[in-house]
Amino acid sequence: MRAGREKMEHGVQELASNGPITVSWHHRVLTCRGAFAAEGDALAGLMADRAGPGRVLIVLDEGLAEANPGVFEQAIAWSRRHASDFEVAGAPLIVPGGEQAKNDRTVFDQVVRAIHERHICRQSWVLVVGGGAVLDAVGFAAATAHRGVRLLRLPSTSLAQADAGVGVKNGLNAFGAKNLVGTFAPPIAVVNDTLLLQSLAPEHWRAGLSEAVKVALLKDPALLSEVERTSAALRVRDLDVMERIVTRTAELHVAHIVQGGDPFETQRARPLDFGHWSAHQLEQMTGFRLSHGDAVAIGLMIDLQYAAIVLGGRADLPTRTADCLEAVGFPLTCDALGDEDRLLEGIERFREHLGGHLAITMVMEPGDSHEVGEIDTSAMRQAIRLVRQRGTKRAARAG
Ligand SMILES: NC(=O)c1ccc[n+]([C@@H]2O[C@H](COP(=O)([O-])OP(=O)(O)OC[C@H]3O[C@@H](n4cnc5c(N)ncnc54)[C@H](O)[C@@H]3O)[C@@H](O)[C@H]2O)c1
Ligand SMILES: [Zn+2]
Repeated sequence: MRAGREKMEHGVQELASNGPITVSWHHRVLTCRGAFAAEGDALAGLMADRAGPGRVLIVLDEGLAEANPGVFEQAIAWSRRHASDFEVAGAPLIVPGGEQAKNDRTVFDQVVRAIHERHICRQSWVLVVGGGAVLDAVGFAAATAHRGVRLLRLPSTSLAQADAGVGVKNGLNAFGAKNLVGTFAPPIAVVNDTLLLQSLAPEHWRAGLSEAVKVALLKDPALLSEVERTSAALRVRDLDVMERIVTRTAELHVAHIVQGGDPFETQRARPLDFGHWSAHQLEQMTGFRLSHGDAVAIGLMIDLQYAAIVLGGRADLPTRTADCLEAVGFPLTCDALGDEDRLLEGIERFREHLGGHLAITMVMEPGDSHEVGEIDTSAMRQAIRLVRQRGTKRAARAG
């Protein structure tokens, strides 16, 4: 028998060649203003670091292209400027934006077809500019066509720049379940261009702020204070303030991936999913009319109320957080909160998503969180009602 091959029980043998596979990846997120501008061309710098034939397929989110038609022109001008550095594989491909991009295979197929027909190989690039949904769908296509082509992401919503676009996942919804298919596939880099945020509709301008408050409650009390202090500026769309908060939020998300020891989520704990079991369920219940950002804001409130009722969480934290979220524009209410039975099904869906064992992160006070493995359903109903009552009162005052 060769050295290293051990005879095991019942004739089961390990091959002598078995061993660890180590793949090292530098996860890289940059911020800039004007990614396609001639000055400070971050994209070309990133691409120059890699050898290869360098064909580039540019994919643009239709919602962005309509709200900011200049992006299409800027992408073409950028391609022309770099004509000697890499070959641009045709005109930018425009794909439908929003959750519909993930709800069926249309965008996925469009991108895989373009990768095939425009000869994008494993040394070529897909450069995608869009919201989290388009990044997820296009990222899935780029990760699976040819078993993975190089991906550069330019997230174009506050939520995508703060959270959805800076991680290592992609995916599509299928059979009515969110993110049922997808892969862990780190992009070559992510470039957060703050100027892209200027054309966002109000609900997508604020969306990233619920993820900021989420991660602030989990890990960074100073960030929570900063959102509170700057809420008026955020409401009137101060780009400098938004850039600071989005960048800090992205930093905390990236630190969790790079330093947290579980980038591909093989363990059960999912601390960054704080507030998300109900957020995902509310999105489903409203047929995605409720945006992810608005849903997360409500989801945080439900779990903060629950922690205060059952777990001894700080009693003033729900009110403090609701004040902060409302100050930056979140409505904190939706009709689906009235259907408690269906909302509570979200807990079971989340349990399933985690592989059968529930682990829901609860925040006791800013910077202090822990996981619970079971939920007291009647207390959770009470928490949902408290959130609903506040929302209803506020809506009545406003109306
Ligand atoms: N992969 C991950 O790790 C991860 C993490 C969190 C969330 N997500 C996913 O992200 C998605 C939500 O992303 P989102 O909040 O960015 O919303 P979104 O992608 O649905 O975009 C919102 C809307 O804004 C439009 N848009 C995009 N950029 C624009 C711009 N600059 N100006 C004007 N309009 C613009 C889009 O066309 C769309 O209509 C969800 O599908 C969620 O599941 C993924
Ligand atoms: Zn989220």
